[in-house]
Amino acid sequence: MKIPRHQTEEPFDLVIAGELNLDLILFGLPLVMETERDLLGTGFVSTLGSSSAIVAHNAAMLGLRVRFATLVGDDDFGRLALDRLKQAGVNTTDAIVDPSTTTGVTILLPHGAVRHSLTYLGSIAALTVEHLNRAHLAQARHFHLSSLYLQTGLHAGIVDLLRYLKSAGLSISLDSNDDPANLWGYPLYEVLPFVDVFLPNESEICRMAGGRELDEAIQQFADKVPTIVVKRGRNGCRIMQDGRIADYSGVTVNPVDTIGAGDSFDAGFLCAYLKGMDMATCARAGNISGALSTLSAGGTEAFRNRSLRESFLREHGFPLIGD
Ligand SMILES: Nc1ncnc2c1ncn2[C@@H]1O[C@H](COP(=O)(O)OP(=O)(O)OP(=O)(O)O)[C@@H](O)[C@H]1O
Ligand SMILES: [Mg+2]
Repeated sequence: MKIPRHQTEEPFDLVIAGELNLDLILFGLPLVMETERDLLGTGFVSTLGSSSAIVAHNAAMLGLRVRFATLVGDDDFGRLALDRLKQAGVNTTDAIVDPSTTTGVTILLPHGAVRHSLTYLGSIAALTVEHLNRAHLAQARHFHLSSLYLQTGLHAGIVDLLRYLKSAGLSISLDSNDDPANLWGYPLYEVLPFVDVFLPNESEICRMAGGRELDEAIQQFADKVPTIVVKRGRNGCRIMQDGRIADYSGVTVNPVDTIGAGDSFDAGFLCAYLKGMDMATCARAGNISGALSTLSAGGTEAFRNRSLRESFLREHGFPLIGD
């Protein structure tokens, strides 16, 4: 299956300045964990984690030309994570290896529909706008920003950077992901005026809006962003564009875990969006891509499995195939 690439002047469709770390996933641990005991898991997977990197990896696997600018420590986890991106065809020539920091890590403990998620930030919070080559970032059609409240090192210059990228003609998307402090303060409202597509999940946008119901929460952001795409797990997504709200149902699957489903949704949605497709098609591409990621542990393993990826995309009519 070959997905044709865009013929544009910019060498990249999608550029991401983001965090890069591994996810260590332990299955089968109890929800309530006693201290001073040896607790045994029933399964373990180590895989590429971090929202930004999962979007980059899976967008490349879906056929986009992707550049990823990041910062990692001079350690095995950093090298492994970078290798995974390179294997997917992501350009990582702007990755910085900084021996003074340690590559971050996330430990995930899924328990059926809920999970513990424990992160050591390390290099995740060390990336600043001074590390980024602005001219390189501008050589793309679209800039995506993830994990706003983990990438605290970017906060100082992010508004300036987005203003520059916007004036250079790039479209911009934001997946804030969660705010561990649940405060939803700076720089969310300063960043939103530059964002074309806002991609929160349902819980996030409701909490951002001070605990409102979903439609009220969407309305609260309606005059700030042209397109709001709310991810709703197995229920698919709800999208507001030009004042109209529509629901798009998800694909029915039997998930192994839903880690990275939101990031995989972003990758699929952006593929269709960057092809200029209508909102219903973008939503479908996002829902198919999100569902695919649930079929293996973590956010990228199902995309790395070529036969699974190709058969699932074909079976569900992923919109870019054969076009
Ligand atoms: N159980 C499921 N069945 C089918 N599709 C799913 C399921 N869970 C997630 N998806 C797909 O993935 C998308 C994103 O899922 P979700 O709402 O969990 O995002 P998220 O919470 O941002 O995820 P992440 O943990 O990656 O940040 C959904 O909108 C849907 O398209
Ligand atoms: Mg998310």
